[in-house]
Amino acid sequence: MNTLTKLALGLMGQLKPLQPAVDAAATLTLPAPRRSGGMPLMQALLHRESQREFAPKALRKQMLSDLLWAAGGINRPELGGRTAPSAMNAQEVQLYVALPQGLFRYEPKAHRLEMAAAMDVRRVTGYQDFVDSAPLDLVYVADHAQMKLVPAAQREGFAFAAAGAMAQNVYLFCASAGLATVIRAWFDRHALAQAMGLGPDQQLLLAQTVGLPKGDAPA
Ligand SMILES: Cc1cc2nc3c(=O)[nH]c(=O)nc-3n(C[C@H](O)[C@H](O)[C@H](O)COP(=O)(O)O)c2cc1C
Repeated sequence: MNTLTKLALGLMGQLKPLQPAVDAAATLTLPAPRRSGGMPLMQALLHRESQREFAPKALRKQMLSDLLWAAGGINRPELGGRTAPSAMNAQEVQLYVALPQGLFRYEPKAHRLEMAAAMDVRRVTGYQDFVDSAPLDLVYVADHAQMKLVPAAQREGFAFAAAGAMAQNVYLFCASAGLATVIRAWFDRHALAQAMGLGPDQQLLLAQTVGLPKGDAPA
């Protein structure tokens, strides 16, 4: 769907998710993430960039597993520490994954995906047309209930900072793995919150599309 159509539908409150083509299981298990290898850090920084053209092919499960772990997985199990920082270690940013078969929430402890809505919400995650057909859109959501110890006036800023750190992890992982990605803030917040069924304590922060660069073979 093109951007103008999305803007018009959004104004009418009619920007809605699609019914998925296939039924998906409530839990999507993932292989253990590969926690070694990849490109040297300085090279990944050299290749980090935003890309907006994606092949419509799904990522393989191992690639999805590695990507989610890089974004916000547990890297110090004894402390429950994550790959990205959060103010007072509140770990308030929830990572949602919009796939063609449904919307899932990443559970770092179990390292798996739990279904949040049996809908294809990809096209509601942004006004730009590529979000509809790219294999996945990540959505960063702040859970304010997790931030009771953070002063109220600082919760939103801290949550955006934490989401930004996760997004940069994704950028560097994508640079290393030969994937395309772009972080995005231009989306219909009302339509997306509704499509995702977010609760009163949840605040949409950012979205990020990930996929194979257009014309690439499956990863
Ligand atoms: C907070 C934030 C919001 C952004 N929102 C969008 C967006 O909605 N759509 C988009 O295509 N790019 C978006 N971008 C990506 C920027 O356009 C991009 O980072 C910038 O042009 C620099 O390009 P580079 O990332 O390749 O260095 C956003 C970046 C940031 C940090």
